[in-house]
Amino acid sequence: MINRPIGVIDSGVGGLTVAIEIMRQLPHETIYYIGDTARCPYGPRPVEEVKQFTWEMTRYLLRYDIKMLVIACNTATAAVLDEIREALDIPVIGVIHPGARAAIKMSKHFRIGVLGTLGTIKSRAYEKALHSINKNVKIFPLACPKFVPLVESGEYHSAMAKKIVAETLLPLKDKQLDTLILGCTHYPLLEPIISSFMGENVAVISSGEETAREVSAILHYKELLNMEKSCLPNRFFTTGSKELFYKIASDWLQDPTIDVSTIRLDENELVF
Ligand code: DGL
Repeated sequence: MINRPIGVIDSGVGGLTVAIEIMRQLPHETIYYIGDTARCPYGPRPVEEVKQFTWEMTRYLLRYDIKMLVIACNTATAAVLDEIREALDIPVIGVIHPGARAAIKMSKHFRIGVLGTLGTIKSRAYEKALHSINKNVKIFPLACPKFVPLVESGEYHSAMAKKIVAETLLPLKDKQLDTLILGCTHYPLLEPIISSFMGENVAVISSGEETAREVSAILHYKELLNMEKSCLPNRFFTTGSKELFYKIASDWLQDPTIDVSTIRLDENELVF
């Protein structure tokens, strides 16, 4: 039972920023990860389509008998977390509440910026999550549709990335924020550039660390934590280019031995 993998899903490589924290905090656990790179970005897509794609990835991983599912994508969390959680009999968590909690913990003056995809910002899911904890938070949301393509193409260290980050974040510069939430799991790969643009008075928050803590707490509570030293190897699946996924994932995870497989798409649906 406890040897079963934890499923982690995202529209692409972004959810690796969450997977890496789960691996760090829970080294005896096995992760099966899907990045739906071929259909990324999810951000500009209609909610119904994001729901359908997220359900397909979920069903794909259920065949491997996962013991828990982490929707490591804010756009998918906003669109379909509640529905999937209700339908499955394993624990299912998203990344929005953990991100909101981490930001509230860090913020002193409760002037909090939220960066996200068009879908996440339109859903107002962060406003709801933040205000459910503290009604006095002043929130400054900003959609950053150019960030995900930068990350998926492996351009996150480039001069072009610096320019795009500076242009996009300019409207937040004079808002006296003390905290900025990276409300998309792709954005932590741009974190050094974002932090240096916003300056040292703004704490930049990713949801990975807090999400991994929630995974740990839930598995412990359900007595599903793997206490044994031996675990199955992690596996990574992508619907897109195996080579590009490997390049980004092995760089980010600092592990050249990762096992990446391709999932085929037929008429824009996952083939099982
Ligand atoms: N990583 C995703 C998120 O957290 C989605 C990016 C996208 O596909 O637009 O929102």
